[in-house]
Amino acid sequence: MTSGNEKLPAGPAPAAVNLAEKFARFSDHWSPKIVGELNGQMVKLAKFRGAFEWHHHAQEDEMFLVHRGSFRMEFRDRAVTLRAGEFLIVPRGVEHRPVADEEVEVVLFEPASTLNTGNVTSERTRATLDRL
Ligand code: NI
Repeated sequence: MTSGNEKLPAGPAPAAVNLAEKFARFSDHWSPKIVGELNGQMVKLAKFRGAFEWHHHAQEDEMFLVHRGSFRMEFRDRAVTLRAGEFLIVPRGVEHRPVADEEVEVVLFEPASTLNTGNVTSERTRATLDRL
């Protein structure tokens, strides 16, 4: 008999990621930072303040989880307020615009290929992201 674990690679044990510590390491707005990666998806952190561009992502669903503060996700026909501890998934193809009256800290979960401004290019577009 062999145990099912014998052929698994022996990698280092993963470290805990402390969100507060990661968010303390940057202050710019609308500029996502990569903090993790799994199964082709990225975990990104971003700070929002003000109103972002209207945009959509043709191929990707996008998850927004609020860590601190709150913001409003506007859709063409309604808006959804998200508070700390709440998340929302924007389905692919759906136009959206995040608006934060005050600074908010957000965890994003989306494919590596997702551009923050989706189908729109602006001065806020970030083609390459820093890793924290
Ligand atoms: Ni988006």
